[in-house]
Amino acid sequence: MHKVTIENHKNMQESFSLIIFGATGNLAQLKLIPALYDLVEANLLPEKMSIIGIGRKELSHEEFRAYSNDVLHKPNRHHQHPIKDEVAKNLLDRMLYVSGDIAQRELYDKLANLTKENESCSNRMFYLATYPELYPTVFNHLQESGLNNQDCGYVRVIVEKPIGSDLPSAQKLNQLLASYYKEDQIFRLDHYLGRETLQNLLTFRFANNLFEPLINKDNIDHIQITAAEDFGIGMRGGYYDSVGALKDVGQNHILQMIALATMEAPKSFDNLSVTNKRTELLKQLVPETDRLIFGQYEGYLNEKDVAKDSKNDTFFAFRTQINNERFKGVPIYVRAGKLLPRMVTEIAIVFKNEAKHLFSNVVGGDDPNMLIYRIQPNEGIVFRFSSKIPGPEFKIQNEYMQYCYKHTAATLPDPYLRLLNDALRGDQTFFVDAEEVEAQWQFIDPLIAERKELFSYKPGSWGPEQANEIIEKDGRKWIEPSIGFCSF
Ligand code: BG6
Repeated sequence: MHKVTIENHKNMQESFSLIIFGATGNLAQLKLIPALYDLVEANLLPEKMSIIGIGRKELSHEEFRAYSNDVLHKPNRHHQHPIKDEVAKNLLDRMLYVSGDIAQRELYDKLANLTKENESCSNRMFYLATYPELYPTVFNHLQESGLNNQDCGYVRVIVEKPIGSDLPSAQKLNQLLASYYKEDQIFRLDHYLGRETLQNLLTFRFANNLFEPLINKDNIDHIQITAAEDFGIGMRGGYYDSVGALKDVGQNHILQMIALATMEAPKSFDNLSVTNKRTELLKQLVPETDRLIFGQYEGYLNEKDVAKDSKNDTFFAFRTQINNERFKGVPIYVRAGKLLPRMVTEIAIVFKNEAKHLFSNVVGGDDPNMLIYRIQPNEGIVFRFSSKIPGPEFKIQNEYMQYCYKHTAATLPDPYLRLLNDALRGDQTFFVDAEEVEAQWQFIDPLIAERKELFSYKPGSWGPEQANEIIEKDGRKWIEPSIGFCSF
C-alpha cells in the first residue's frame, strides 16, 4: 500500500483545475456541483481554482454556468439548504466547459489548450463521473495529450465506485490505473467513507474507553445492519440493471460500515494505518453462501431501461462472520434494498443478555442492551438499556441514551464535500486503495455467484419473507429500526 501524507496548505495558493468528465450527468447534478457550492461557501477551494466540465452536450462556458446554476436551484434531497447568490456566483465564475466525444483525441487537445490558456502551470484533478468502460480511453488520451504530465503541478484522478464488477475486472482496472498513475494519485471514492456518521465510529470507538472493551465475542450476541431506501431506481435503470443492489451498495457502502464498526484500532490516525486496518478486517469476512437471499420489487421490470426479463436484485440479505479471535462466532446480519418501508441506515450492536439474571422474570426485563449507530436520517448514537418504570409496581421498560448530531451541529457536511476537500489536500485516509477494493470483491464474488433465485417483494415491505429465515434460523429477529430517535 502506497499512500501520501496530507499536504500543507501551500497548494491552496497554487492554481488548480478540477476537470469533471460527465459534468452534465446524474452524479454531477446531484452531488458534485452542490458539493462544490458547499466548498466555496466554506471557503475551502483554492483561490485560483477553475472547474472544467466535460460533456457531450454542445454548451458554451456561459451555458454551462447557467446549467449549473439551475442544478443548484433544483430540489435535491442531498442538498437542501438555501442557495446564496454571492456563493453561487463565486462558483459559477470558476466554471468552464469543453464539449466533445470522450473517445476522441480532439477533446483532450481542446482541454490541454484551455488549461494552458488558463494557467501555464497548474495542478490537475480529473474526476471521472462517467461510465467505467470509458476509463481506458480517457486515461490513454490524457496520457497522449500530455495532460497526465506532472512536470509542473500534480495530477490526481478520482474514480467512483463501483471499481470493476468483480475481482478480475477490479484487478484489471487497478492494473490499468497503475500503468498511468501512482497509487498516491488515485482516489477511489466511496461516498460512505466521507459520511461524518461513519467517520465518527472511529472517534466514538477509539477516543472513548467505555464501549470498545465490550465490543467482542464475549459480550456481543450479534450485529445487524439495515440500509433501507423508500424509493426505487428512478431514472437510473440503465446503470442499476447492470449491477443490482449487492454490487451497487453491498460491495462498498455496507462493507465499509462493517469495517468501521469492527476493525481493530489503527496505530495512528493516518491514511496508511486506517486503510490497513479496514482492509485487514475486510479480508477476515467470511462469505456464507447458504445464508443469503436476493429480492426484486414488484414492478421493477416496468422501470425505464430495465430488461423485461431482468434477474437483477433490488434487495439482498445475508449473514456473515468475522474470522478473527475477537469476533469469532458473532453473526452479522445485513439487509438492504430499494422500495422498503422507510429510508434508514443503521448499525445495531446487540449485546448478550445473561440467560438468567435478577430481573429476567419481570415483564420487559429480558431485553438486551443495544448500541445503535444511526447513519441516516436523524443521525445519532443511541444506547438502549432497561430501566424501572417509575411507580409502585415493579415493571421494566427500554430507555435510550442518545447523542443526536442535530443538537450540536447545524448541518452535517455532505460526504462529497468532505471527500473532494480531502482529495484537494491529498489525504487518502477515507479513499479505498487497490488492495482494499480487491478484498471487497473477494468477499462479494462468491455471494454474487449464488444469485440464481430471486424472490419478489411488495413495495413498502421489508423485502421478501425469505429474508426473515436468514436471521430466524438462529433464533433471532430483525430489529424494526425506529427513526423516532433524534427526530426532534
Ligand atoms: C449510491 C448507490 O452509491 O448510494 C445508490 O448507487 C444509493 O443506489 C446510494 O441510493 C445511497 O447513498 P445515500 O448517500 O443516498 O445513502
